[in-house]
Amino acid sequence: MSRISYCIANWKMNHTSDSIKQFINDLESIDSFKSDVKTIICPSYVHLYLVQNFLFESNIEIGSQNVSEFDLGAFTGEVSANMLKDIGVRYVILGHSERRHLFSETNKQINCKLNAVIKNDLEPILCIGETLEQRKDGDTEKVLREQLNSMFNKIVDLSKVSIVAYEPVWAIGTGIAADLETINSTHKLIRKILNNCGLQSDAISLLYGGSVIPENCSEIFKLEHVDGFLIGGASLKPETFTKIYIKMKIIRNNYS
Ligand code: PGA
Repeated sequence: MSRISYCIANWKMNHTSDSIKQFINDLESIDSFKSDVKTIICPSYVHLYLVQNFLFESNIEIGSQNVSEFDLGAFTGEVSANMLKDIGVRYVILGHSERRHLFSETNKQINCKLNAVIKNDLEPILCIGETLEQRKDGDTEKVLREQLNSMFNKIVDLSKVSIVAYEPVWAIGTGIAADLETINSTHKLIRKILNNCGLQSDAISLLYGGSVIPENCSEIFKLEHVDGFLIGGASLKPETFTKIYIKMKIIRNNYS
């Protein structure tokens, strides 16, 4: 089955309006982003509208890096799923390891956020991943199973879940991506867990994230169970982001 391929930029807390203008100007050619590889840029909340306007006529979509689990009300500093939808955001990253570890986001909260995202017809990009200690202790399967099971608890319409990103915590921002065997076997395991959770894993795009760069992306993207990337550091510069995208596009064309 041919799943959708994704090349997703997670800009984290980077960029200003000037550097965003520069980034868009320097992208090789916005038109070249029309292909079977879907491109999504996830800037900070305050830049969503700006990026949306810049990319209005392109095939590049925008996503948010986070969302509130609440619908509306007295939640100072929060942004609801409905507000994101209101400005044309289509995708939302949920459960990123930096949210889990730096901001103590729990599986329960992520589950509530997923509910909010689905209720508002947005598309979740669900992040999961184990720490180095958990991997060394042989707990990877247990951790991934727990993360997925609790995310999906009492979610009414699981058919809205179509993108899951495996991001081993130890590979994020370290410059050391997981090796090919680890990525492929863990993705295979995730497909099994997704099936056990009642999802149709064959239809879900499984992305890898963690120190993806132009130099390692081709080998990883060719793996059977990898359908794309969630990219942090290498997505900040238009040259590196475009290089990864172009390599994916060539591989995707050759394989379909
Ligand atoms: P990285 O980040 O590519 O800089 O490792 C990936 C991510 O956090 O999504």
